[in-house]
Amino acid sequence: MNPCMHNIQLSSELLPKHIAIIMDGNGRWAKTQGKPRVFGHKNGVSAVRKTISTSAKLGIKAITLFAFSSENWRRPEDEVGVLMELFITVLSTEVKKLHKNNLRLRVIGDKSRFNPRLQTKIAQAEALTENNTGMVINIAANYGGKWDIVEATKSISAKVARGEIDASDVNEELITSHLTMADLPEVDLLIRTSGECRISNFMLWQMAYAEMYFTPTYWPEFNEDSLIEAITWFVNRERRFGCTDEQVEELIESD
Ligand code: IPE
Ligand code: IPE
Ligand code: MG
Repeated sequence: MNPCMHNIQLSSELLPKHIAIIMDGNGRWAKTQGKPRVFGHKNGVSAVRKTISTSAKLGIKAITLFAFSSENWRRPEDEVGVLMELFITVLSTEVKKLHKNNLRLRVIGDKSRFNPRLQTKIAQAEALTENNTGMVINIAANYGGKWDIVEATKSISAKVARGEIDASDVNEELITSHLTMADLPEVDLLIRTSGECRISNFMLWQMAYAEMYFTPTYWPEFNEDSLIEAITWFVNRERRFGCTDEQVEELIESD
């Protein structure tokens, strides 16, 4: 039976539990505005805000946003510098609001390469929101899917070397439990903006079964409607129901 045809309210059970987003296209969007690339990064912040508030209102359990990949250090020094300053500014201005809304913020990735000022801001933001029970927001910064698997492998090998576990105990569950975000549901929906159709070394293991949604929209233009469109697509793929954007929107109002 098609629940939409019978006007039955969409159940929030059908929504994705963990959404991962590759926020791409800031530079190209800036170019369309006749502005330098960093203008795009600055404008991408409002898309982040909209995505977080819409996801939280929908009752999504976790979102993971790819903000800076382990490969992004190769960009011009100036651009990397602006991105780092932007992280610091955004962490300073937004974290209190996230905390007030009971949201939990975590930064995943190799934080050791960030400057000490940024590392301190990150630690403070994580500590402040650590006991919140609402949606988990993971910011993937200096993150790489291969790095994540390498780190897990190193810690498993160390345990084997210390005799805490046997090499024959290594299985999928064990590897999963040593990756970042082991405590969260697996990613069920990946969104990439800007029309590119690749993973760019984002989460690999955790996306084994994710539905992948690619949209030509550049990240700074991604808004509440864009997210609802992606989620509607997901619900329709997963369950083969012909649901509408409006039915997903209703879930916002009913919360
Ligand atoms: C994504 O936008 C943001 C980061 C990678 C930090 P880009 O900066 O990759 O923008 P395009 O892909 O060059 O348009
Ligand atoms: C992926 O985007 C990383 C982030 C969005 C942070 P890129 O723009 O860096 O990816 P490639 O280089 O086009 O694959
Ligand atoms: Mg890009």
